Amino acid sequence: MRQHQIVLLPGDGIGPEITSVARLLLEELSSKYDFELSIEEHLIGGSALEETGNPLPQQTIDACKASDGNLLAAIGNPKFDSNPREKRPESGLLRLRSELELFANLRPVKVVQSLISSSSLKSEIIKDVDLIVVRELIGGIYFGQPKGRIETPNEERAFNTMTYSSSEIDQISELAFKLAMSRRKKICSVDKANVLDVSQLWRDRVNLMASNYKEIQVTHQYVDNAAMQLVREPSQFDVLLTGNLFGDILSDEAAMLTGSIGMLPSASLGRKGPGLFEPVHGSAPDIAGQDVANPIAMILSAAMMLEIGLKEVQAAKALEAAVDKVLEKGIRTADLMQEGCTQLGCQALGDELLNSL
Ligand code: IPM
Ligand code: MG
Repeated sequence: MRQHQIVLLPGDGIGPEITSVARLLLEELSSKYDFELSIEEHLIGGSALEETGNPLPQQTIDACKASDGNLLAAIGNPKFDSNPREKRPESGLLRLRSELELFANLRPVKVVQSLISSSSLKSEIIKDVDLIVVRELIGGIYFGQPKGRIETPNEERAFNTMTYSSSEIDQISELAFKLAMSRRKKICSVDKANVLDVSQLWRDRVNLMASNYKEIQVTHQYVDNAAMQLVREPSQFDVLLTGNLFGDILSDEAAMLTGSIGMLPSASLGRKGPGLFEPVHGSAPDIAGQDVANPIAMILSAAMMLEIGLKEVQAAKALEAAVDKVLEKGIRTADLMQEGCTQLGCQALGDELLNSL
């Protein structure tokens, strides 16, 4: 029998609630589709800080490196907002991405027909949206040196560095071009080349890569324009290739095209080794522990882990189909609630998914 070892990282806020839904579904899928799952849970983020004083304990790093797939719910707790940077939940996540060398973050945004009217945008604008954000994840201004805060004679100053090397850009753009070959063969690379040197290099390298992929239609947009185009005419995009910071911002914006950020999954991948699969949304501390969170982005992240990480394609498709079925029945969590639909909590929606498998 096929065997997979996976690590669940519940993290903070709504994390534990949506993780327990994911766990139930994964266990059911493993018996239905004849594979064995050994599941371990580990600490990350604020909950790890509370228990160990470290947002990413070594044990978690070791377990994630040794697994076949890592499924993270969310990290973040306002309680730690005034901690020094290395003692914040976010540092745990950034370090995990870096330790696993997950240079590519894929965030697919596809409109679900039954949710068209929950988007804040008009249905004729979003009805054909099917794009994927390819975000560079372990470079750029998130990790660039030098960075820090210094006292000058008159005042305090803080700085970060936005930096990319040609090899970093080539690595992520090659992945985006390969992905585009399996899609509609369109790439829009997003930068700020009218102002930033780092973006000029980005654009030059993407153009160089494009010369190896003549079938792909390549365009470039400045990030301010891309932010506008995403709400003006989002269906123009197929693969949206961009750096770490711009990708962070644009993927939250793109998430809202689907009606709720509670719908969007992501996969972070490296050259080799296990990936990290996680919802795009955060830990939502305001609704934590109330059983009202939407577990769907987490479930769709589990589907990405099954398909990309574990190569359990049938189980992945079954999970996605269960999500569609439940939504088509008019079942909704609070964030997606519309007139005429039935509102359920996180756990009850999980039960519906289980019954639809
Ligand atoms: C994301 C999140 C993270 C990021 C935070 C939590 C560090 O916003 O995955 O998009 O900025 O990358
Ligand atoms: Mg983000």
